[in-house]
Amino acid sequence: MDWKINSLEEYAVAYQESRNNPDKFWGDIAESFTWHKKWNEVQSGTIKDANVKWFEGGELNITENCLDRHLEDRSDKVALIFEANNPEEEAKEYTYKELHEAVCKAANMMKDLGVGKGDRVCLYMSMVPELLISVLACARIGAIHSVVFGGFSAHALAGRIEDCECKLLITNDAGFRGSKVTHLKEIADNALNDLGKTSVEHVIVHKRVGNNIEMKEGRDIWWHDIYPKASSDCKAEVMNAEDPLFILYTSGSTGQPKGVLHTTAGYMVWAAYTFGNVFQMNEEDKYWCTADIGWITGHTYITYGPLLNGATTTMFEGVPTYPDAGRFWEIVDKHKITHFYTAPTAVRALMACDSEFVKKQDLSTLKVLGSVGEPINAEAWNWYNKEIGKEKCPIVDTWWQTETGGILISSLAGVTEGKRCFATLPLPGVFPALMDTEGNIIEEREAEGNLCITRPWPGMLRTIWGDHERFKQTYTSAYPGTYFTGDGCRRDENGLYRITGRVDDVLNVSGHRIGTAEVENAIGQHPHVIESAIVGYPHDIKGQGIYAYIIASENHHEDMIKEILEVVTSEIGPIAKPDKIQIVPGLPKTRSGKIMRRILRKIAAKEFDNFGDTSTLLDPSIVETIKDGSL
Ligand code: WTA
Repeated sequence: MDWKINSLEEYAVAYQESRNNPDKFWGDIAESFTWHKKWNEVQSGTIKDANVKWFEGGELNITENCLDRHLEDRSDKVALIFEANNPEEEAKEYTYKELHEAVCKAANMMKDLGVGKGDRVCLYMSMVPELLISVLACARIGAIHSVVFGGFSAHALAGRIEDCECKLLITNDAGFRGSKVTHLKEIADNALNDLGKTSVEHVIVHKRVGNNIEMKEGRDIWWHDIYPKASSDCKAEVMNAEDPLFILYTSGSTGQPKGVLHTTAGYMVWAAYTFGNVFQMNEEDKYWCTADIGWITGHTYITYGPLLNGATTTMFEGVPTYPDAGRFWEIVDKHKITHFYTAPTAVRALMACDSEFVKKQDLSTLKVLGSVGEPINAEAWNWYNKEIGKEKCPIVDTWWQTETGGILISSLAGVTEGKRCFATLPLPGVFPALMDTEGNIIEEREAEGNLCITRPWPGMLRTIWGDHERFKQTYTSAYPGTYFTGDGCRRDENGLYRITGRVDDVLNVSGHRIGTAEVENAIGQHPHVIESAIVGYPHDIKGQGIYAYIIASENHHEDMIKEILEVVTSEIGPIAKPDKIQIVPGLPKTRSGKIMRRILRKIAAKEFDNFGDTSTLLDPSIVETIKDGSL
C-alpha cells in the first residue's frame, strides 16, 4: 500500500496534497483497491447541498477487498480470532480462506431466503463470529446491514426494524456476557410481536447457548439447518460506489435514534486508510479492538478496517471483569496481541482494580494502544501508558463518530507524536474548524469552539435513512457549508486538537451515546410522571452519569423510582438507566417554557456556588429547592 504514511514528513506532505489536490490524492489511494469498474469522478457534491458523493460511477464489492484480494498472499493467515466469554472455552481462529468460505456460505444462505441487493437485514446478535460473518455476507450480496447492539430492549429493536423495514432478522438463541445470559431470541420475538405486521419475513437463529426457545413455524429457521447446506461459492454482487453499505442507528439531541447511512466505496477507502495509518501494523502483528460490533467502532475497526488491510483481528464475546478483572490482560498475553484498542471507561474500571491482575500477565507483545469513544482523562491516560504500555507504546487517542465512518483526528502510532488528552492532528483529507458563538470560523491558532469539518471526506455519512431533511437539519445547517460534529474542542498553540465533549444534549455514558430526549421520552411512559429533565454529570468510571429530575403526580408511590428504571430498561435498554433520580416539585424554566439545563447540570455536578443569571426564570426559588434535595 503506497499510501502508508511512514514519517512526520510524509504526513505533512500527504496532508498538503489532500488539501491542494484532493481528487488526485484520493484517486491514487483508491487505485490500490479492487474495482470492477473505475469511477468517473473522485468527488462530487458539497456539504452545503448535502449531496456529497465519492468515486461516483465506480463499481466494486467491499468483501472482495476484505477477503478475495488476500487469498493469493494471505490465504492461510489468521483473519479472525474469536475469544469466548468463558476462558475455558477454546479460542477459534479463521484464516482468510476460511473466513472467505464462511462469508460465502452465509451469503448464499441469505440469498436462498430471497434476500438480495438493497434489502435490509437486521443483525441482533451477541459477539460471536457469526455476527462478523453475517455483516460481511450482507455486503457480499448487496444487502444493507443494520446491526442492533444486543443490549437494546425489544422496544428499541422494534423501532429500528420498523424504521428501515428489514426483510430478514438474524439473532442468537441467547448470548453469553460475563456471568449473564441475554435472551436475544426472546427479546427479538417480543419486538416482532410488538410490531404485529412487520416487514420481517424470516428469522435465522444461531445457536450459541442452547437454551429453550420457541421457533415460529414458517418464519424462524435455525442457522445450523441451512448454513451447512449452503454453497461456498458466492460471486460478489457488483455495487455502485454510492450504493448503501449499512445503516447504524445512533442517538441525537432530539427525537428517536437516527439511521446513519454509509455507502460503499467512500466508507471502504476511509476504513482502510485510517486503520492502516493510525495503527501502523506489520504483517505478523495481532490486533484486538474490545468494542462490540453493535457500535460503529466494531464496524470499522473490528470488521472492515482490519480485514481491508489484511490484518489479524480479534473479537471477544465477554466483558472486561469476567471471570475477574484480569480478563483483558490475560487475552493480550494468550494471543500475543500487539495492537490494543479500547475505551477510556474500560481503562478507568480496570485501573480501579487490584494491580496484581495486570502484573500477572505478560504484556510485552504490546506495541500500540488506542483509545476511543470519549475524552480520556489524564489519570486514565497515565495508567494506560505506564501499567499497560510500560511507557513504550504510543497511545493513539482517536476522535471520530458514527457519522464520520472512521477516525478523523488522531496521532499516527509511532509516526506523529501523541499528547496526553489530545486527539492531536487531523488525518489527511480532514479539515477541522472551530466556530465561535456567532457561527464564524475562529482563525487564531489557540482557540476553543464548536468543532466543524469544512470539506467532505470519503467516510462521511450520506444521509439519515428515510429522512434527508433531518440529515440537513442536524449536520449541515448549524454552520452552513460545513459538517457540525456536536462536539466542543480546544486547539493549542501547536495546532493540536483536544475534544472537550458534546455541546448538544447528547450524553456519553461509558462511551455510549445516549440522547437526553430519548431517556425523557422513556421516563414519560410512566403513568405518574408529569415531566422530566435528564442531564449528565461527571462520573468516575462512566465518564458521564445520567441524572434524572422528575416531576411526579401527587399520587406517586414508593416504588416509583424502581419502576422508572424498569421503564427505561424496557424502552431503551439497561445502558440508559439513570444513575440518580430526584423527584422535584418543578423544573427551572424560562418564561417561554424552556428548561434551563445549565442549572440542572450544575446541581447534578454539585457545583452550587454560581448558577449564573437566573433572573429570566419563571420561578427562581425552584433552584434552591432542587439544590436542597439534590443527590
Ligand atoms: C465522543 C464513537 C473525545 C465524541 C467512535 C463524539 C470522543 C462521540 C473520542 C461519538 C475521543 C469519540 N475523544 N471524545 N477520542 N471519540 N468521542 O458515534 O463526543 O458512538 O461526538 O462514535 O464520542 O460517539 P459514537
